[in-house]
Amino acid sequence: MSSAKRILLIIGGGIAAYKCLELIRRLRERGHSVRAVMTSAAQQFVTPLSVGALTNERVLTNLFDLDDEREIGHIRLARDNDLIVVAPGTADLIAKMAGGHADDLATAVLLATDKPVLLAPAMNPAMWAHPATRRNVAQLKADGIRIIGPASGEMAERGEAGVGRLVEVPELLAAIEGIFESSERRQQRGVLEGRHVIVTSGPTHEPIDPIRYLANRSSGKQGFELAAAAADLGARVTLVTGPVSLPEPAGVDIVRIKTAAEMLEAVKAALPADVAVFAAAVADWRVEGIKTEKIKKTELPGAPTLTLSENPDILKIIAQPGPDRPRLVIGFAAETQNVLDYAKSKLKSKRADWIVANNVSPASGVMGGENNTVHLISAKGVESWPEMSKAKVARRIMERAAEELHTKRTAAE
Ligand SMILES: Cc1cc2nc3c(=O)[nH]c(=O)nc-3n(C[C@H](O)[C@H](O)[C@H](O)COP(=O)(O)O)c2cc1C
Repeated sequence: MSSAKRILLIIGGGIAAYKCLELIRRLRERGHSVRAVMTSAAQQFVTPLSVGALTNERVLTNLFDLDDEREIGHIRLARDNDLIVVAPGTADLIAKMAGGHADDLATAVLLATDKPVLLAPAMNPAMWAHPATRRNVAQLKADGIRIIGPASGEMAERGEAGVGRLVEVPELLAAIEGIFESSERRQQRGVLEGRHVIVTSGPTHEPIDPIRYLANRSSGKQGFELAAAAADLGARVTLVTGPVSLPEPAGVDIVRIKTAAEMLEAVKAALPADVAVFAAAVADWRVEGIKTEKIKKTELPGAPTLTLSENPDILKIIAQPGPDRPRLVIGFAAETQNVLDYAKSKLKSKRADWIVANNVSPASGVMGGENNTVHLISAKGVESWPEMSKAKVARRIMERAAEELHTKRTAAE
């Protein structure tokens, strides 16, 4: 979730205006402040009294209200916020925005603002489909207005259905948070500019025969988030991943491998790097004597016996001192018990700079889940982070990595 922001909500005169009451509550719950401007039509649908009670601010309705002008003025109102949300965006408001009208407070503010504007249209499907609305929406998109929805479904009018419903409040909230988060990210962009980051991710598949393999439950989500976070912070990223079906993060070079041996080769080929993060759940063992043809059940007296041999320890190999050692080597320790003890000994035995330890017991829901609770272990000690999304964990690790590189460089100078 983004930090507290100031939102100016412009409520248009549509039947869906009542959903704004819920939207205001949810925004305030998240710590944002909300000031509302209502068109005169909007006041036919919900009262300024309700909106004012929920925003805890006086609702602004009139461009020519002298008090408003003295206290804030429509130009300041247009700019004293982080985001303007127009919901419901009526066909009329959309037309006025596209035409650059400014004959009431809502449109004057929208014309004077230099802030991002998120428009959530809501109207009858015939109004939405009308060529005039299509033209106006295309114009607003070209003008840089962000548009969410409308959704399709039943209309308030009996028997009417189609595309035109205001999107539901959770979707609106997600769009609002998305705008804030990407602007916060942009502000922090670049701390890994000029760095090369290698991330390993996902499970490895160790073949038994051409069809069967040994694997584990790693989803690869944490590794993909790490790669995305590093790229977002400006790094050149090589993501070496085992077999997973996740969308490819933007701006990342992906190397797809299957086995631990292939992963090691791909990591070596990607060196040199400033940072290497080993988030993959590499199989500890591979099968000896992989069969080139499918093992037939009928050809054996009983179940086959698999002989396993140890896979290369990629973290340990790459963390060895030497000219190619990345300046910051980060290992992941996924344990189901005694997490911290194992992680501390892993830090030493592998010669990693940091170990990110997490509990992956089935009850934790980490494997395949969206969230993670991790401990960051370094020579300085243990830091325990609260539960957060894998994206947030990734972001934090990469920001810390950037700080560490900066400190190391400053110390070396
Ligand atoms: C009962 C009723 C429901 C309406 N619902 C919508 C709607 O959902 N979307 C829309 O664009 N217009 C709707 N209108 C028409 C607008 O209220 C009208 O165009 C008004 O001028 C919009 O003013 P505003 O854009 O300044 O808020 C509705 C009108 C009535 C009487």
